[in-house]
Amino acid sequence: MSKVLIIGAGGVGGVVAHKCAQVPEVFTEICLASRTKARCDRIAAQVPRPITTAQVDADNVDELAALIDCVEPELVINVALPYQDLSIMEACLKAGVHYLDTANYEPPDVAKFEYKWQWAYQERFQKAGLMAVLGCGFDPGVTNIFCAYAQQNMYDEIHSVDIVDCNAGDHGHPFATNFNPEINIREVTQRGKYWEEGEWKEIDPMSISEMIDFPEVGPRKGYLIYHEEEESLVRHIKGLKRIRFWMTFSDNYLTHLRVLQNVGMTRIDPVMYEGHEVVPLKFLKVLLPDPSSLGENYKGKTCIGCVFEGIKDGKPKKRMLYNVCDHAECYKEVKAQAVSYTTGVPAMIGGYLMLTNAWAGAGVFNVEQLDPMPFMDLLNKYGLPWKEIER
Ligand SMILES: NC(=O)c1ccc[n+]([C@@H]2O[C@H](COP(=O)([O-])OP(=O)(O)OC[C@H]3O[C@@H](n4cnc5c(N)ncnc54)[C@H](OP(=O)(O)O)[C@@H]3O)[C@@H](O)[C@H]2O)c1
Repeated sequence: MSKVLIIGAGGVGGVVAHKCAQVPEVFTEICLASRTKARCDRIAAQVPRPITTAQVDADNVDELAALIDCVEPELVINVALPYQDLSIMEACLKAGVHYLDTANYEPPDVAKFEYKWQWAYQERFQKAGLMAVLGCGFDPGVTNIFCAYAQQNMYDEIHSVDIVDCNAGDHGHPFATNFNPEINIREVTQRGKYWEEGEWKEIDPMSISEMIDFPEVGPRKGYLIYHEEEESLVRHIKGLKRIRFWMTFSDNYLTHLRVLQNVGMTRIDPVMYEGHEVVPLKFLKVLLPDPSSLGENYKGKTCIGCVFEGIKDGKPKKRMLYNVCDHAECYKEVKAQAVSYTTGVPAMIGGYLMLTNAWAGAGVFNVEQLDPMPFMDLLNKYGLPWKEIER
């Protein structure tokens, strides 16, 4: 018997619920909880297996711990927002259950992505004999697993990693974000950063771009941005000299974003409006399409992967590991677009490996510290097949 509690009923939460439901031999019972119970119920009605639902404020540790005590899961999968990571980790410690998430903690008042707050839980999870797995979506998540796999099986030394993320899909809206608008816009408007020869190099937002040839999608302009997995990969991939992260954006997306920034709509500090404090970005989020609603008419594909350069048997080697995912196929299977799908499937797989003890240990882990082999097999089995090619 292994019961899972999923927290967060957005685009990703819906996929995690669907995918866990497809594996009843591992996830024998599923409870989906979120701030708005109606959203959990809507997902539960689509899942072809009974799952229970609950309302919870995941900012409130006592409320969370009481829910965990009542549901009695072995594992909590956190797919709410990064703001809730620490309170959910606290509640897992309080209630004595394992933890997994897909995005690192961010303080609400500063757009800053760092693992330091979650890594600080190492000793407490170790002492409690519990496992916390961080960043188990696609990027971070599968990209970290690709690096661990490349280190173990493809290279003697990895010198550089370029993580490349392309969404070549079209949702038909003038402007929308593929995951939570607030988190997405905070991520892409911060200063860029990459790691080279032992130090972080900062750049102005979107100031470096390159044409990248994406398999099955074609050439697209990628922009160098900072992404959280770089911080843990720098620690865990031996001999690394450089790591960068590239994401594609359409000219249309960038034009909208520039206008929104110029008029102050992406600000995260409160402004007074008719006697009330309003955070412009939070207000903008209410106006933009909900990521979980984008799936129905989404066409096209995503292609996300890692390009490695390094040495094997004394010779230079450049290879790419990647997955291509089709928005319409995802919608047909789980009523979600490919960005939610590529995040939710790895979260389910991480949970699967924890509940079957293929991944075990006490403490806080980034996924590249765990065995990549069973994860790579399950990606092929559960909807995210990967390929390796020469570059
Ligand atoms: N690693 C990756 O590859 C990757 C990629 C994409 C996204 N992500 C991460 O995945 C997570 C979910 O993204 P998404 O696109 O599904 O976002 P979303 O559609 O906005 O869903 C977030 C869900 O969390 C719920 N929530 C927010 N605050 C809460 C609280 N205090 N208590 C309980 N529930 C709360 C929301 O409730 P309401 O319905 O009431 O608003 C909503 O259902 C985010 O952390 C995002 O950063 C990771």
